[in-house]
Amino acid sequence: METLAPISIDRAPSVPTPQPVRLTINGTEHTLMLAPWTSLLDALREHLHLTGTKKGCDHGQCGACTVLVDGVRINSCLTLAVMKEGASITTIEGLAENGELHPVQQAFIDHDAYQCGYCTPGQICSAVGMISEGKVRTTADIRELMSGNICRCGAYTNIVDAIQEVMHVTEKP
Ligand code: FES
Ligand code: FES
Repeated sequence: METLAPISIDRAPSVPTPQPVRLTINGTEHTLMLAPWTSLLDALREHLHLTGTKKGCDHGQCGACTVLVDGVRINSCLTLAVMKEGASITTIEGLAENGELHPVQQAFIDHDAYQCGYCTPGQICSAVGMISEGKVRTTADIRELMSGNICRCGAYTNIVDAIQEVMHVTEKP
């Protein structure tokens, strides 16, 4: 009977070593040593301790992990950090400027647009990205374009009210 040759150690699959990834986070450049499979979300939370960005589903379904990459909103749980080499990332911690809250942050406070608050950083980053996309004309547009961000606490109405105020959208669906 044929016997299998032993696997030689030097032919065994190797584990990729961490590699440097350069990211500008909230205006500060960082070089992180990351395993190639590290998500942008884990890079932010585990390596930079920026825990404002939340991990909800970790599968691209809830929007809790939304951040802005070069001004565009993305789900950071579905994005490998190495794919964003050289990019500029804005998280909820980076939205306020000179001690002033971003208008969307202020509107969320004014409209009590959160309950447990878990989804709030993602909701706010998503709203900021949506506003710069320039597609909103009606309240229905806000609901549609924010539909990737799930709030389990039923604060949808107040979230839409807050965004509507910042965007000066008055038309009702
Ligand atoms: S944690 Fe990324 S979409 Fe839910
Ligand atoms: S405020 Fe609780 S999930 Fe949105």
